[in-house]
Amino acid sequence: MLSFRSIPLDNNHTHLTRHAERLISLGEMSAGLVHEFKNPITSLRGFIELIRAGVAYEEEYYQVIGDELNRMERLTHELLSFAKPQHQDWELMTINSICQDMAILFRQQLLTHKIHLNVDLTDNLHFLGNRCQIKQVFINLIKNAIEAIEEEGSIYITGIHDTRELHVTIKDTGPGIPHIQLSNIMEAFFTTKQSGTGLGLNMSKKIVEDHHGKLIATSKLNEGTMFTLSLPYPDIQTLGQIS
Ligand SMILES: Nc1ncnc2c1ncn2[C@@H]1O[C@H](COP(=O)(O)OP(=O)(O)OP(=O)(O)O)[C@@H](O)[C@H]1O
Ligand SMILES: [Mg+2]
Repeated sequence: MLSFRSIPLDNNHTHLTRHAERLISLGEMSAGLVHEFKNPITSLRGFIELIRAGVAYEEEYYQVIGDELNRMERLTHELLSFAKPQHQDWELMTINSICQDMAILFRQQLLTHKIHLNVDLTDNLHFLGNRCQIKQVFINLIKNAIEAIEEEGSIYITGIHDTRELHVTIKDTGPGIPHIQLSNIMEAFFTTKQSGTGLGLNMSKKIVEDHHGKLIATSKLNEGTMFTLSLPYPDIQTLGQIS
């Protein structure tokens, strides 16, 4: 005869389960870290080559190199401290300044691929958040747009806000995403690229949600893809802190 009884989890078992959970989440975070390190490593190498070749904008490039190294340091710190995004790290900043950084960061790649970047933002699109992480989201979206266009095309970034939210769109003139794939693109490890990890959008979505926002994709085949990023717009009190 079969009989069932519940087996109480002893301390050791609970300890092991917690340990396993920590290892799983460390594994996930490491995969994310490796993904996010690929971008700065590529850009650092590119900028060092440019400086060596004696191109213009040298000062700006030193600044970007410094920023990217800081970003890598912060990413490592987040992994080692096992930290979820710390809200005390949040600062008030603008989407405008992030887009300026993006224009410098991607300048050479855009030129090489003959892609025009059009940025049309309302002044002072403030938001409250972790600058390093929101930059990661923009890098992932712009990198995907460039990879989709491949050669010759445009990327349009627009931004507006109302009293409650700000909305940024990043639109490309790439081939678009088949309807059947659209609902999967933000799943971890979904990729259609030979050397893609499929983590870029998944991490971006998580970051945006940690900022109490939303990331939505719309796409039309042979016309292009548009990502809409919505974030809470800071209240008047918070904005009043700007000196
Ligand atoms: N702008 C876009 N145009 C067309 N397809 C896109 C676009 N952005 C994302 N995709 C599709 O979504 C998939 C998942 O994107 P995601 O950024 O998560 O990973 P990936 O780009 O494939 O890999 P990785 O980010 O590691 O380089 C892509 O492989 C691609 O099929
Ligand atoms: Mg990607």
